[in-house]
Amino acid sequence: MATAKLGILISGRGSNMQSITRACASGEIPAEVAMVISNRDDAAGLAWAAEHGIPTAVLSHKDFDTREAHDEAIVTRLREAGVEWVCLAGYMRLLSSVFIEAFSNRVLNIHPSLLPSFPGLHGQRDAFDYGVTVSGCTVHIVDLELDHGPIVVQRAVQVPGCGDAGALADRILVEEHRAYPEALKRLLTRPWTLDGRRVVFGRGKS
Ligand code: GRF
Repeated sequence: MATAKLGILISGRGSNMQSITRACASGEIPAEVAMVISNRDDAAGLAWAAEHGIPTAVLSHKDFDTREAHDEAIVTRLREAGVEWVCLAGYMRLLSSVFIEAFSNRVLNIHPSLLPSFPGLHGQRDAFDYGVTVSGCTVHIVDLELDHGPIVVQRAVQVPGCGDAGALADRILVEEHRAYPEALKRLLTRPWTLDGRRVVFGRGKS
């Protein structure tokens, strides 16, 4: 099976980036991480990527007049690296249509709640405060609305036993690290189409 080239966008710690990279290295998913880009030069994940031989770049949104110009610059760098699929992994910027159209239906995001519940910046805390007994994470195809596009994988966690929102976030993160490789594996190894909001998988390898 052909190896897909992934680009990963981060703004911070990069633990999902690590889980994706490990899944590529182990052969779990037929892909390689061709480029990691951050909008912040202090993103801790950059050092990890560099140590693992992955090309990295910092493109700060502060250096561009518009969101579109920033996105265009990132798209250019990703294309230069041959990237075919883009994984948002804790990337704290909204994407413009420039980006979404450049990688149509090939931009993924992970969100730490069971969407459509609790979109936004504080998915774990909002779910905890609401009092849900089940939460989890969602990997979805990115569209122009925040935390909205077609769902590829969701993994649930039990909330009881979590003393606070931080404990819930830790529990969800364990599942995030499984969900992102699982989503990539599905999309890269099976034929699939979109039927409205639904990702419909055909027959494939796993
Ligand atoms: C994760 O909780 C992810 O769901 C959210 O941002 C966090 C990023 O964590 N979008 P990391 O940088 O991958 O460790």
